Amino acid sequence: MKKIFLQTASHTYPVNIGCNIFNAQNVFHPFQVGDRCVLVTNHTISILWKQKIVKYFLKKKISVDEFILSDGENYKTLNSVHLLLTFLLKKLHDRNSMLVALGGGVIGDITGFAASIYQRGIRFVQIPTTLLSQVDAAIGGKTGVNHELGKNMIGTFWQPESVITDINFLSTLPYKQLISGISEVIKYAISFDDAFFQWLEKNIKKILSLELDSVLYCIQKCCELKINIVSTDEREKSSRLLLNLGHTFGHAIEAYFEYSSWLHGEAVAVGMVMAIQVSKTLGMINTNNAKRMINLIKNADLPIYAPQDMCPESYLKYMVRDKKSYSGNIQLIIPIAIGQLTILKNVKKNIIISAVKACFK
Ligand code: GLY
Repeated sequence: MKKIFLQTASHTYPVNIGCNIFNAQNVFHPFQVGDRCVLVTNHTISILWKQKIVKYFLKKKISVDEFILSDGENYKTLNSVHLLLTFLLKKLHDRNSMLVALGGGVIGDITGFAASIYQRGIRFVQIPTTLLSQVDAAIGGKTGVNHELGKNMIGTFWQPESVITDINFLSTLPYKQLISGISEVIKYAISFDDAFFQWLEKNIKKILSLELDSVLYCIQKCCELKINIVSTDEREKSSRLLLNLGHTFGHAIEAYFEYSSWLHGEAVAVGMVMAIQVSKTLGMINTNNAKRMINLIKNADLPIYAPQDMCPESYLKYMVRDKKSYSGNIQLIIPIAIGQLTILKNVKKNIIISAVKACFK
């Protein structure tokens, strides 16, 4: 098992990565005998994994209440948080209770948000079960919910006590969810690491077929890259902005389709292609590098074309509200080489519209 520490100004915690790691004593370090926990998960994960995980807690003499939500991004709402807070109050949970998020990004974000506001803040642990949450969402303390006018518009920064990443969970992950996670993996490579990008070009099929060592390498690599950034810019004032390649376009797609038909990673994949197009239009990237980036996205079975039924002008409504925008000016992260990004301030609307148009089939 690999243990990497994330150190922020206020908090240091381990990200444990491995296979079958629940057998290792030290992954349970945040929990003490007699603790009260609430396991937060969704119906799908509950059927597949809940009993197994609860068994470990009971073996350690930790009592566990269970709170189970419906599955899907469209449940990442204030209402779900309200239901969880009501459950905590009804069960008399206090400031010593700990929440345990067992699931993907939706469960992690809702649980972290509830933990950050319940009785002014209680502890929580992330047990990410999707590739996307293992490489990205569970690390770094972003919590929150969606609003119909924008993705992740309501939330907090609240770091977990620990992240427990077991790649066994991926064995039950649907293929569409797996490739959605690979989109974030590709984001890390395009954004920060030319050598990792070249490794992915050669090994993408091994990841798609869940070859153990390759998947572990990928998760560790992405976690290391993310930890480096979050440890110097927890609150996204500068370098953490760079973790958002493709997200400004991608979030617009997700919100437009009411968080139902496009998975986050699929929307980010197309969003990255749009960001590459912006860079091409402005002459800021060489054509061969742009082509290699788009090919890698395509070879990972991810979409590279804009949704047919969303007109280019519709993107703007969401993009002006993006958290990276200021006073309605759109700010975009674009790649300028493999492993290198830049931040474009005050991007003109016609540049955005022509990049979206270039992504139609
Ligand atoms: N998912 C990007 C971040 O955590 O900053």
